[in-house]
Amino acid sequence: MDKFIECGSLKMPLIGLGTFQAKDERMERALDLALNLGYRHIDTAHFYENEAAIGRVLHRWLSSGRINRADLFITTKLPFYANKPELVEATIKQSLANLQLDFVDLYLVHFPLFLEFNPVEMKLEIKEHTDIVAVWKQMEEQVKAGRATTIGVSNYNIQQIQEILDNATIKPACHQFEIHLSLQQPKLIEFCKSKNIAIVSYSTLGCPNSEYAKEAIAKGSALKMPHNLENAVVRKLSAKYEKSPAQILLRHMIQQGIAIIPKSTNESRLKQNLDLFGFNLTEEDMAELKTQDIQGAERVFPDTSIIGLPDHPQNPFK
Ligand code: A2P
Repeated sequence: MDKFIECGSLKMPLIGLGTFQAKDERMERALDLALNLGYRHIDTAHFYENEAAIGRVLHRWLSSGRINRADLFITTKLPFYANKPELVEATIKQSLANLQLDFVDLYLVHFPLFLEFNPVEMKLEIKEHTDIVAVWKQMEEQVKAGRATTIGVSNYNIQQIQEILDNATIKPACHQFEIHLSLQQPKLIEFCKSKNIAIVSYSTLGCPNSEYAKEAIAKGSALKMPHNLENAVVRKLSAKYEKSPAQILLRHMIQQGIAIIPKSTNESRLKQNLDLFGFNLTEEDMAELKTQDIQGAERVFPDTSIIGLPDHPQNPFK
């Protein structure tokens, strides 16, 4: 099985390191471990507030010659609070300065809509219509300026991607969205594949033990975690293949040609999440896992976590 998928003009390693919950020294330690283990695809975002920590580690590895820039695949994202055409250039420049890089391999629009922080409710809020195409035009400018080799989107629906395709000079190379055992998203996957858009699954494990989730729930968010690691079919296959439940869930994704970015700061789990190429799930087992998709499944990132989004005409999850 190929360990890469095509992402525009680039080859993206199928397994990347997610970094959402890690910051500062914890992030630096995890990235050092991950690079030592062989991770070369790193997924971050301006919103994660860890670009500078990642930049410090990358600088150490690159300046000492322990790694070549050409062997790395670095993704970062335009945050929802900068989702306006006039903010794109300044925001990617800031991300590049944080990361101590001249360019990223992939720059994604993190969320299709401009969102503000509501300090009273301590939640994100949608107040206005977002011109998705105008933002995309500025994303294209970043490719022309050499700040991003490829560009893509995250958390869009089919109509929103189609709107970009209808107006783009540079097509989205990638779509990163929530896909896991109980939220398998077959229509969105089929659509992206038909348009040659590389797919990256986030929350592939269902985001267990996430600090972010615990905090969000404590603040009253509607966030709920799917219990995919405890799923009976996953447990059965874990025993059959002598692999952990996480490895079954991750292998299930990459075997569909979908890239994954599991996040961990723990060495043995980082190692485990990279060790997915020595076994193959049979067609029958893949088919049984398919039956575990749930209509109206809980999302790790639900629209109800954003004020005004559930009834908004641009809600990407509808
Ligand atoms: P930790 O950093 O302690 O390993 P997701 O990628 O779905 O968002 O899930 C990330 C969460 O899953 C993190 O809290 C991480 O915790 C945990 N995790 C990562 N890899 C594994 C694994 N192989 N088995 C169990 N939990 C894992």
